[in-house]
Amino acid sequence: MEAQEKPSILECMDIWKVFGNNAQSLLSELGPNPDDNAFARHKLIAGVRGVSLKVRKGEIFVIMGLSGSGKSTLVRCMTGLHALTAGHMLIDGLDLAQLSDADLVHLRRRKISMVFQDFALLPHLTVLGNVAFPLRVQGIGRQAREDTALRMIELVGLKGRESYYPDELSGGQQQRVGIARSLTTQPDVWFLDEPFSALDPLIRRDMQTEFLRLQSMLTKTIVFITHDFDEAVRLADRMAVMKDGRIVQIGRPEDLILSPADEYIENFTRNIPKNKVLRVRSIMDARTAPNNDVALPAEACLCDVAERVITGKGHHPVVDAEGTVVGALHRSDLAQYLV
Ligand SMILES: Nc1ncnc2c1ncn2[C@@H]1O[C@H](COP(=O)(O)OP(=O)(O)OP(=O)(O)O)[C@@H](O)[C@H]1O
Ligand SMILES: [Mg+2]
Repeated sequence: MEAQEKPSILECMDIWKVFGNNAQSLLSELGPNPDDNAFARHKLIAGVRGVSLKVRKGEIFVIMGLSGSGKSTLVRCMTGLHALTAGHMLIDGLDLAQLSDADLVHLRRRKISMVFQDFALLPHLTVLGNVAFPLRVQGIGRQAREDTALRMIELVGLKGRESYYPDELSGGQQQRVGIARSLTTQPDVWFLDEPFSALDPLIRRDMQTEFLRLQSMLTKTIVFITHDFDEAVRLADRMAVMKDGRIVQIGRPEDLILSPADEYIENFTRNIPKNKVLRVRSIMDARTAPNNDVALPAEACLCDVAERVITGKGHHPVVDAEGTVVGALHRSDLAQYLV
């Protein structure tokens, strides 16, 4: 609810990224909605097709999609690494296409930063050297950049390993270095392109927890890419699912689970434990008056209130953060999500 009121910091307006010769003129000749055959005929590859979305300040926006669906291409468009074939990309209201090269460099060095799937650490630099590197590029003096780097190293739980080289670290530790490095410039918008996919499942889960802990302290605007629906649901305030370069659905994880746009989305949601994702607010009855006094928080997940509701009688009052009654919940409302 709260996030909906926040202003957007990124806006994609009908973005297209098509690879191949004369992509721009061919795309405009092909009209507003070219099909696959038209692209194939002209030997074009459509990486991103007509994407429009807004990312709000302070939210974790996850872009989920299978391999080849266009996630990395979209992020490259968002960060100005790809020139768009059509459409507009706005960061903080500024159209990237209107920026000078110098302004783009400034934006990439100061306002946004990126974490990569393969860590992309510099092997000949220590942990400290790697984390301080973006500040070195900015021309910040040694003492100042190392002070900042040390704080970031501590933040990601690597204190004591400053002088290690990347090949002396585990995969999870290397990715923590990547995360620390991307935070040294204090970016407004933080892009992470499948940052945990090279890690084994247990470490991956730890890193997700760590990431949520970091975000609770930093409250950055985050664009997080993954091909894993579970990871998306766990991390996202809102998420977009991509397929063949297009967005299939955008919403809160519970919106996708409660009302999947099509069978494609439904297939992803089938194995998600719904009682852990859905919140009381999304399934409550806003029109029925409560008739018992065991109140339930609107933002609690179903698994946390299940016992109270199942053993209780009648309609429980559902209350928001201020304690105002916003609806009611009866055990029959819950039943279908617990089996
Ligand atoms: N530089 C390029 N030249 C030509 N085609 C490209 C280029 N970059 C990406 N593509 C194509 O665009 C499509 C989307 O690729 P993209 O890398 O964005 O997918 P992805 O969703 O990030 O996949 P993955 O999960 O495997 O990283 C693919 O068909 C890819 O082959
Ligand atoms: Mg990719």
